[in-house]
Amino acid sequence: MKAPLRTLLRKGAFLFTPLKHTNMNEMTPKAVSTSRTVITELMIPSYANFGGKIHGGILLSLMDKAAYACAAKHAGGYCVTVSVEGVEFKAPVAVGELVSIHASINYVGRTSMVVGMRVTAENVETGTVKHTNTSYFTMVAKDKNGEPTPVPPLLLETKEDARRFLEAMKRKELKAQFKDEFDNEKTGLKVGSELGLLANERCKVVF
Ligand SMILES: CC(C)(COP(=O)(O)OP(=O)(O)OC[C@H]1O[C@@H](n2cnc3c(N)ncnc32)[C@H](O)[C@@H]1OP(=O)(O)O)[C@@H](O)C(=O)NCCC(=O)NCCS
Repeated sequence: MKAPLRTLLRKGAFLFTPLKHTNMNEMTPKAVSTSRTVITELMIPSYANFGGKIHGGILLSLMDKAAYACAAKHAGGYCVTVSVEGVEFKAPVAVGELVSIHASINYVGRTSMVVGMRVTAENVETGTVKHTNTSYFTMVAKDKNGEPTPVPPLLLETKEDARRFLEAMKRKELKAQFKDEFDNEKTGLKVGSELGLLANERCKVVF
């Protein structure tokens, strides 16, 4: 995918994207709306940390459940979480707030699905709703033998569906690129000759 997303959307490229995998052609595409999932949960005191705010792990667990529900609905069966991206908590969540996870399938590969999730926290007394984060979980469908199994293609019914699909493709491409570049950098790093890079960092070398 070389052209910028905006150009592709303008050209309606998504309308002509062929299905890459033969076996997927045999499956009926499923609309994003058929698996869209919303989970809302009240944040109770036992979810809080010593600072009185909700543990990040509680939110991650809720997001994992929403991602599972959404992916399992699309796949029509058991799925596992493979990777998690974009997790950064932009605002703290307090006890008593209602956390909602809005999950939908953004992208479908052969056996994998990217579930995009928007997390919000609502203070019912003031009526304020804050957006705490948007994250992307990659889920893979598994068959009865525990092997990855094909999932239905995604039916893109709106420009928004297409934008999310294209963005997920770009994210996947950039992630692979980053991994390659980082792996190369890592193998080239020499602790010794590169210790000078630490001079202006907030650390102290004592060996
Ligand atoms: C994810 C897993 C199924 C991949 O198995 P594999 O034998 O490498 O299978 P494949 O290479 O065919 O990959 C299957 C799909 O996963 C995708 N995938 C694999 N690793 C990935 C990663 N790190 N990030 C994103 N997608 C990934 C592949 O791209 C492929 O997608 P596609 O079929 O849509 O093209 C396997 O590593 C696994 O079961 N992991 C444990 C998952 C789990 O138990 N999670 C719960 C947390 S405890």
